[in-house]
Amino acid sequence: MRPVEISGKRLGLREVTVDDIDALHAVYGDPAATEHLPFDPRTREEVEQIVAEAAEAAAATPRRLYVLAVTERESEQVIGVARLHIEADHPHSAEIGLGLRPDQWGRGIGTDLIRLLLTFGFRHLRLHRIWGARSPANTAAQLAMLVAGMVEEGRIRHHVRARGAWRDSIVHSALEDEWEGHRDD
Ligand SMILES: CC(C)(COP(=O)(O)OP(=O)(O)OC[C@H]1O[C@@H](n2cnc3c(N)ncnc32)[C@H](O)[C@@H]1OP(=O)(O)O)[C@@H](O)C(=O)NCCC(=O)NCCS
Repeated sequence: MRPVEISGKRLGLREVTVDDIDALHAVYGDPAATEHLPFDPRTREEVEQIVAEAAEAAAATPRRLYVLAVTERESEQVIGVARLHIEADHPHSAEIGLGLRPDQWGRGIGTDLIRLLLTFGFRHLRLHRIWGARSPANTAAQLAMLVAGMVEEGRIRHHVRARGAWRDSIVHSALEDEWEGHRDD
């Protein structure tokens, strides 16, 4: 599916463009938004690179990586960023990641966004399994994934190196057949 453009009740998802660099930097460059992510806040130049790589990935066949701007449906303002990465060796399965600008947190938008990503992955991309890995300390991500119907699967020990130390990840997943019961439409 390209270019991607889908919407839910409150949010839209569409391909990122160079015009979104500042909006993406408001997430990837923010110390609070990256606190539980395995990288330091990104510079604007690093975000430019992410957008350039996203455009390259969007043109690839088969397409494995979707880097999408999260928009507020009414205003079309970009309030976050979402990724969906199809595994090369297991093309029925994809990992998702997401981040919202901190002034948008705590209103159920993260949960809505995960629901929309599941709809995109299962319905549009015909995936069978969608998973996400979070820091054990990331309670907001835990609750958002659980409420959206992503089951907690287990712990990957020392999964990532973050700020000079090993960090475990907790994996959540949704399966296509289970997801039918959590659909938001
Ligand atoms: C994770 C994230 C997307 C959640 O978005 P959000 O819009 O704040 O989430 P929601 O409002 O849908 O909240 C989901 C649940 O978490 C709870 N919650 C939100 N922030 C919380 C916090 N800091 N501590 C504890 N609970 C929290 C909410 O009350 C809600 O639970 P409920 O449905 O039982 O009321 C957002 O915090 C974010 O962008 N964080 C930075 C990037 C990140 O960590 N991404 C996830 C990587 S796995």
